[in-house]
Amino acid sequence: MKPIKVAMLGCGTVGTEVARLLTDQAEDFAARIGAPVELTGIAVRRPNKHREVPAELLTTDADSLVESDVDVVVEVIGGIEPVRSLLLKALNAGKSVVTANKALLAEHGPELYAAADASGADIYFEASVAGAIPLLRPLRESLAGDRINRVMGIVNGTTNFILSAMSATGAGYAETLEEASRLGYAEADPTADVDGFDAASKAAILASLAFHTRVTAGDVHREGISAVTSADIAAARGLGRTVKLLAICERVTDAEGVESVAVRVHPAMIPNSHPLASVGGAFNAVFVEADAAGQLMFYGQGAGGAPTASAVLGDLVAVARNIVAGGRGPRESAYAELPVRPMGQASTRYHISLDVADRPGVLSQVAAVFAEHDVSIAVVRQEGRPVDASLVVVTHAASDAALRGTVDKIAGLPVVREVVSVMRVEGEES
Ligand code: NDP
Ligand code: HSE
Repeated sequence: MKPIKVAMLGCGTVGTEVARLLTDQAEDFAARIGAPVELTGIAVRRPNKHREVPAELLTTDADSLVESDVDVVVEVIGGIEPVRSLLLKALNAGKSVVTANKALLAEHGPELYAAADASGADIYFEASVAGAIPLLRPLRESLAGDRINRVMGIVNGTTNFILSAMSATGAGYAETLEEASRLGYAEADPTADVDGFDAASKAAILASLAFHTRVTAGDVHREGISAVTSADIAAARGLGRTVKLLAICERVTDAEGVESVAVRVHPAMIPNSHPLASVGGAFNAVFVEADAAGQLMFYGQGAGGAPTASAVLGDLVAVARNIVAGGRGPRESAYAELPVRPMGQASTRYHISLDVADRPGVLSQVAAVFAEHDVSIAVVRQEGRPVDASLVVVTHAASDAALRGTVDKIAGLPVVREVVSVMRVEGEES
């Protein structure tokens, strides 16, 4: 059989593993696909740095590599440009694309899907969300006959690694982030991880697939973990909870029966009994709730070279099989065109920790502000200290807007010394 010719863009944490596995398992790939796979070139920035792949494959001219006689372009560079232009060039020329690039897809997915549709090429991106976990194909294919209502989970390995270490050993934020970078979990610019951009891109991809609607990264409410303190983690522990960075994509139906989509990424306290609470290190886990299927949970390694390469190579095999069969895989579908709700309307429970003066009437003043904003209190815990007191309030479900108004007003009360932390609570009855 004529070989399937593959160009790879990038040879870092993920690309190195893709090249290694492609070489080590060449015979198996040929048997599974029905044609051998030939890696014809690898584009990098600094060829002298790459001793792990044959020097003759390396080039700094990614444009010429994409334009050369190849069937598939595997992209593991990351970021928006020059990758967007390179992949459009490949797709416009009818060359299929496999990419791990969530940032690009969450921003320019529709443009890329349209180019693929126009030329009849494939674009596959399983590795872009949750590393090794087969998640996008189940959403796009296995669950295509069901109605998905909610997707919620841990989709960023770096932040989960950091929060797990802070929680388990009290390790510091900066040193743990450094370790995550060393292990190849973090993005080239790790602020993408800690500020929630990476998880927001993934949430946009998940919501788009789950709800057949175009959701971009800009539609996602995003909060990262840089403001999470050891005091937040200790407060959570005191209440039998743990702090996780969650991505939550929901189908919402309002009182008039109008459907919309809400997508958010933020740290949240979840009960220790919740299955997501025990997801540690760089592992990811995602719950999908669908009408007929009920609850499904996907769990596995969410970051790292080899796990991500597994997903990239799964896509490469699928795309190569399509080429051998003379067809293409399933297309993206955005027929539902549901509106995206603003975060102010999202309803969750909150944990609020305050430093207050320890004297009579303080609790009633604070409680009055909650009542004034129609935010119902579920739990109050007060601990006296020598000069002041710590007051913890957990609310029933309240809108983001109502909670912001409550906290702003409480912060201005003379009896409140400091609003120590405000964090959402998920995974409990509202
Ligand atoms: P790295 O930073 O380790 O590697 C990036 C590679 O791209 C390097 O080989 C670099 O070359 C090359 N490169 C950068 N700019 C250019 C350019 N302009 N032209 C040609 N080559 C270029 O990234 P990762 O391997 O970690 O990630 C790659 C992609 O996979 C990203 O989209 C990331 O989000 C995604 N991903 C990563 C995961 C992970 O765990 N690391 C998991 C899931 C997805 P050089 O080495 O010469 O500088
Ligand atoms: N930086 C990402 C993470 C890589 O930590 O999850 C996997 O997408």
